[in-house]
Amino acid sequence: MADVSTDVRERIEKLREEIEYHNYRYYVLDDPVISDAEFDLLMRELAELEARHPEYITPDSPTQRVGGKPAEGFATIVHNVPMMSLQNAYSFQELREFDERVRRLIRVDHVEYVCELKIDGLAISLEYRDGRFVRGATRGDGVTGEDVTHNLRTIRSIPMRLRTGERIRLDVRGEVYMIKSEFEKLNEERRKAGEPLFANPRNAAAGSLRQLDPRVTASRPLDIFLYAIGFSPDRRFETHMEALQYLKSAGFRVNPNIRLVPGIDEAIEYCEEWGRNRDTLDYEIDGVVIKVNDLRYQEMLGATAKSPRWAIAYKFEARQATTVVRDIKVQVGRTGALTPLAILDPVKLAGSVVSRATLHNEDFIRSKDIRIGDTVIIQKAGDVIPEVVSVVAAKRTGREREFVMPSRCPECGADVVRLEGEAVARCVGLKCPAQLREGILHFASRDAMDIEGMGPALVGQLLERGLVHDFSDIYKLTAEQIAGLERMGKKSAQNLIEAIDESRGRGLARLLYALGIRHVGENVARVLAEHFGSMDAIMNARYDELVSIPEIGPKIAESIVSFFAEEANRGVIKRLAESGVLMGRPQAPQEQVPQTLAGKTFVLTGALEGFTREEAEDLIRRMGGRVSGSVSRKTDYVVVGRDPGSKYDRARELGIPILSEEEFLKMAGKR
Ligand code: IVH
Repeated sequence: MADVSTDVRERIEKLREEIEYHNYRYYVLDDPVISDAEFDLLMRELAELEARHPEYITPDSPTQRVGGKPAEGFATIVHNVPMMSLQNAYSFQELREFDERVRRLIRVDHVEYVCELKIDGLAISLEYRDGRFVRGATRGDGVTGEDVTHNLRTIRSIPMRLRTGERIRLDVRGEVYMIKSEFEKLNEERRKAGEPLFANPRNAAAGSLRQLDPRVTASRPLDIFLYAIGFSPDRRFETHMEALQYLKSAGFRVNPNIRLVPGIDEAIEYCEEWGRNRDTLDYEIDGVVIKVNDLRYQEMLGATAKSPRWAIAYKFEARQATTVVRDIKVQVGRTGALTPLAILDPVKLAGSVVSRATLHNEDFIRSKDIRIGDTVIIQKAGDVIPEVVSVVAAKRTGREREFVMPSRCPECGADVVRLEGEAVARCVGLKCPAQLREGILHFASRDAMDIEGMGPALVGQLLERGLVHDFSDIYKLTAEQIAGLERMGKKSAQNLIEAIDESRGRGLARLLYALGIRHVGENVARVLAEHFGSMDAIMNARYDELVSIPEIGPKIAESIVSFFAEEANRGVIKRLAESGVLMGRPQAPQEQVPQTLAGKTFVLTGALEGFTREEAEDLIRRMGGRVSGSVSRKTDYVVVGRDPGSKYDRARELGIPILSEEEFLKMAGKR
């Protein structure tokens, strides 16, 4: 009898070791050596043995990773060594000052630093006794945290036993985070289920780890990077790098992008590099942590009440901020589309003050349940337009008001209709002043006819006084008429007349774009101008001819045909021509530029250092290339600047060659 039980115990022990080894291969090394089915067999055998011999179940058994029943609440635990926070730096200047302070305090000329990504998750501490995982806790207030052991066990990359086999005491520290791509999926599922959305992967990770039911945590895409040893009475290290190396050998997941550098200059380079590349990672980072490598130096430097003097966090510009929705207004665009707009308490965000955010349409507001008076999280989407990410439900007072889309246009009083299957509500007023105003502002905008000085205040007055009814009236304005408007002197009136005059020669492509034909953006306008050469030819083009042009699909062709079928539109164009607006290619001879980029299609994403977006696009076109707004298999190159958007991810997905600004300049023969 005794023999049998020894056999069973040995088998259980053997299975646990094997299973944990395969977990390690799979979750830490990302390099499994058996199939999922084989793994399941091992797990099943262990579970069955444990079911028959519950007396042998131990908390570090792999079966216990998703065991536990929901808890009543979390116990508070006191950290063996407090979990400190870091001092922050927001500029490279502050990093240099940090470096000077460090070198002054320890009286050396050179200090080596370890540069690490600052993972944007939730700090936790893992406690090992006798080489076994016994407890894990959140940071809490730094001194005491919450016991989330059961939930941490569900993260498969956390070793239940140190892989070195040492039976020692050890506290390790790290960051639990949610995988970015999985976060999007999770939110999508929650949206469908009508559950509140997580604002960002960090909140989602925190919410998931602080679940009372470990089965919920287990279903969430969490992982962990370990970045420090908090307490190790049984083992000493000389450098931080050595400690990280040890963590790896003990089976912990350590971030692969850690770099040892000889001084602060190289640390700054690391910050620049990751500021540019942060979107290539499948987890969020909010900065870089720079740590003194030599542990004797660390000891000499010590800590203030809150943070160590041997480390600093360089923080990237935040992309999100919290503010309050004071009101929701409705804007009428030039196509009559009604766009709800959140009026916000002004907040600083990524270098500017934000006081409005687009709410897109009614469905958007409903799906996020945004109400007037709500506290919301906003973020900058792409490069410019801020948008509302989510409502901070905890800040609800009950006094918030729901938004109702008006049934009449706030500008002209005409009916507002929302067609079946469309997300947008539109004003149907043919004479809606808002549509006309927006249309004229677009006509005069920089990429269209570029009439400097023709801004909202002026256009508003021109419409009110009946001086302008359509685009062609712009070219009939006189300096006297303009000088009679509010806040317009003689000089500015004269300047405006000159700007209007100058715009006559912009040429066919810009004029076509300026007309605001639906679906005719800058690119399509250029293609049309190139293909037809004159306004007459375009006006009389048939649908078939239009769709035979590669860039022009049925929707665009239809929109062009119906625009020019409208008698009123033909009248405007006739009058524009009579006022001397150029209806063909621009006269000014273009300088001869080598057509180095001929036939290549480029997509740009992120901010470039040496150009504005328009300048870069212009350069590509002048050298014979084409610019597209989205990445597809037809894209030849994607040029990536600082903080690139989703186009970058898409390019990687499709395997499209990616160029840095430098590489792009080389290709264009500019370097
Ligand atoms: S070291 C005593 N390294 O940033 C310093 N922290 O305020 C211990 N964090 O709460 C922190 N990535 O949650 C360190 N590579 C990294 C980190 C990191 C993220 C978090 C951590 C901490 C906060 C600093």
